[in-house]
Amino acid sequence: MNPIQTDVAIVGAGPAGLVLARMLHLQGIDAVVLERRSRDYVLGRVRAGIIEQPVADLLVELGVGERMLADRLVHDGVQLQHRAGGAMVRHRVDFAALCGKTVTVYGQRELVRDLIGLREADGLPLRFGCEVTGLQGLDDDRVMVSCRDAAGESTISARYVAGVDGAHGITAQLLDADGRQTLQRRYPAAWLGVLVEAAPPSHELIYSRHPEGFALASMRTPEVSRLYLQVPAGDTLADWSTDRIWEQLHRRLDLPDSPVNEGRFLESSITPLRSVVHRRMRYGRLLLGGDAAHVVPPSGAKGLNLAVADMVQLSSRLVRAVLHGDDSALNDYQEACLRRVWQVTHFSWWMTDLLHRLDDEEFGEELRSEQIRTLSDGGTLARWFADSYTGLPI
Ligand code: FAD
Ligand code: DHB
Repeated sequence: MNPIQTDVAIVGAGPAGLVLARMLHLQGIDAVVLERRSRDYVLGRVRAGIIEQPVADLLVELGVGERMLADRLVHDGVQLQHRAGGAMVRHRVDFAALCGKTVTVYGQRELVRDLIGLREADGLPLRFGCEVTGLQGLDDDRVMVSCRDAAGESTISARYVAGVDGAHGITAQLLDADGRQTLQRRYPAAWLGVLVEAAPPSHELIYSRHPEGFALASMRTPEVSRLYLQVPAGDTLADWSTDRIWEQLHRRLDLPDSPVNEGRFLESSITPLRSVVHRRMRYGRLLLGGDAAHVVPPSGAKGLNLAVADMVQLSSRLVRAVLHGDDSALNDYQEACLRRVWQVTHFSWWMTDLLHRLDDEEFGEELRSEQIRTLSDGGTLARWFADSYTGLPI
């Protein structure tokens, strides 16, 4: 059987792959999206909740914003909490006053649902349960993409391949088999996250640095909280009973006038904290982006946002390459992305270091507390924080 032909094979139906597919469709470029998980699995995955202002604006431009604009919560500040003078205190960082921007609270799950809904309504190819197992001919005129699904093995012939298959995908391994182009840092901590049927403790996010570890109170709607706890790297959900989770959430987050509200757990998960940057994002006709190319610890709420920023760079170059036959358009893709990648990697590392208990040193404790106080003063550091958190221009 002759292989199916397409301009761009997109490996992975996460936010990166689905946004790229939408951008290419709007420019009249053919693409096939290949996703190894089932449709239900992809629609059920929880993950991110914070969308930067420039990314939210872009989603609206792409025609994906209708439900987001109706259902989102817009936040123009965030609360930072830490121990000072023997008690927990909370400071507000006012994004609107410091940089004139806001963030959107809208679940990744909802965004993915919107993107899949649009693609299916347009009748465009999106194959679930289809795992990419290999790529041949990355230096030739066309790439042969080998896939496996319930019906068996098949091949797709593509002019370009977008490797947007996440942190555990196949494409980054193909590009950097010996790992020499990959820089990484592991942290001795993980995040235990629970989605809870209960109102959040505050109308804004609370990031708390506590002597027993970091905690975060976020939300999905005014009735559903998303709560996170720092736990030791290597812990599993079996180490954390419901009672133990609530005890630690109360201890690390509660202030007398705004305790965490308890409710039924709708989902729970553990995510290790790590930073990874693949310095090489292109190999011939294969282009990496999103979590396949870099992973940031979730502390700065940046992974999805950075994935979308990569896709802006990639789609404009693929348009020139496919529609105008200008292959050289892709030559500077990696350089165009890496500056932002390192800025966001730095911001996410800094937030992680600021808020987590990563060592037992009193010296480090004092340094970090001082930074939180400086942030609450509204000066240069606060302006940089507000600008970075709400999103640098794309
Ligand atoms: P993914 O979403 O991982 O998608 C990749 C897809 O490729 C997957 O569906 C996978 O099944 C598929 N795939 C893998 N291998 C293959 C294969 N061989 N063949 C076919 N398909 C394959 N980011 C933010 O911006 N803001 C936040 O508030 C935020 N909070 C977070 C909180 C938590 C707890 C976590 C875990 C993450 C958070 N993130 C946040 C990060 C964000 O979720 C990720 O950065 C984002 O999902 C990356 O998108 P992606 O499309 O690059 O990768
Ligand atoms: C959420 C996730 C984050 O990583 C973060 O920094 C803030 C909020 C969330 O899931 O709501």
